[in-house]
Amino acid sequence: MRILVLGGTAWLGREVARAGLAAGHSVTCLARGESGAVPDGARLVIGDRSDPAAYAGVAGQPWDLVVDVARQPGQVRTAMAALADRAEHWAFVSSASVYAVHEAQLRSESTALLPAYDGDVAPPEAYGEGKVACERLVLAALGDRALIARAGLLAGPGDPSDRVGYWPGRFALAGQDGGPVLVPERRDRACQLLDVRDLAGWLVDAGLRRVGGILNASGEVTTLGAVLDTAAAVAAYDGSTVAVGDEALQAAQVEEFMGPRSLPLWLADPQWAGFLSLDTTRAHAAGLTARPMADTLADALHWERELGLARTGRRAGLDRADELAVLGGAAGSTAS
Ligand SMILES: NC(=O)c1ccc[n+]([C@@H]2O[C@H](COP(=O)([O-])OP(=O)(O)OC[C@H]3O[C@@H](n4cnc5c(N)ncnc54)[C@H](OP(=O)(O)O)[C@@H]3O)[C@@H](O)[C@H]2O)c1
Repeated sequence: MRILVLGGTAWLGREVARAGLAAGHSVTCLARGESGAVPDGARLVIGDRSDPAAYAGVAGQPWDLVVDVARQPGQVRTAMAALADRAEHWAFVSSASVYAVHEAQLRSESTALLPAYDGDVAPPEAYGEGKVACERLVLAALGDRALIARAGLLAGPGDPSDRVGYWPGRFALAGQDGGPVLVPERRDRACQLLDVRDLAGWLVDAGLRRVGGILNASGEVTTLGAVLDTAAAVAAYDGSTVAVGDEALQAAQVEEFMGPRSLPLWLADPQWAGFLSLDTTRAHAAGLTARPMADTLADALHWERELGLARTGRRAGLDRADELAVLGGAAGSTAS
């Protein structure tokens, strides 16, 4: 089969290309080549999708499957114009950020959406609105020939966001330096993640089986406590943790969920209580499987070790010295 990945030089797209190659298919990637390399065995066609001419090198032949990771409606618009009638099937990677509300647990695909972004280039703060616009363009052009995968939190080696890997990495670092690990006090909040390689493999497999429709794509819903316990186990951590409550973390200006100076995966805001809790019944019925979380976290730890457990300036998480300073200043925390 001939697979075209629109992307392929960054994290998920590269895994999609790898999955296609591993299944014995021919894989071509279209990207500028700025984010990185494509996997060995894939062909890279250089092009900037802000220019409709970018597709000239890939529009001359039919594709069994096109997989697109775009965030920008303008890029999806040009792709539809150039390639919609060249593709047997299309898989578009969307996001749970398309939903307008994140409070409820197990949100289904019929949850209300954000308004579609009106324009070609959605700024980062309009990421969800941009994805809504992208979805609409894909569905309008391809209908049943499109699989829209609304991905939840992705994890695994290569993660450029530094989020999930923070936890096994932090337990491993604390195991080396002998200090405690700061953890959120509330362990019962919903948590859900999917290994990037499981999503990639499924996009290829389901796309070639011509699965259509809109499907939430993530792993099993569990709790933050279970994720932390698994992260500690894969890091073989037997030191102490100190649980800090929401108010103390907020007082220390620790950010929720992601970004610099955050506590990754910690969601205190009740309006986001269901963010990491998607109903994935449809995707699992369509063949999506998730490997054991311990395997994902073990491989994420390996990646963290390569990057350096004690590195500073993380994209998500607290630098170690900062973490210990927050612990020193946190009133009412509980050590165990
Ligand atoms: N991380 C998560 O937890 C999470 C959760 C939900 C959904 N998602 C979705 O998962 C996907 C992640 O994809 P990813 O990791 O492969 O990629 P990404 O970080 O979104 O990178 C975008 C890809 O598109 C290419 N690209 C960007 N601008 C381009 C342009 N003007 N012309 C041609 N190509 C261009 C980039 O390559 P070049 O720079 O080389 O051109 C790169 O390969 C995204 O769709 C994201 O929204 C992620």
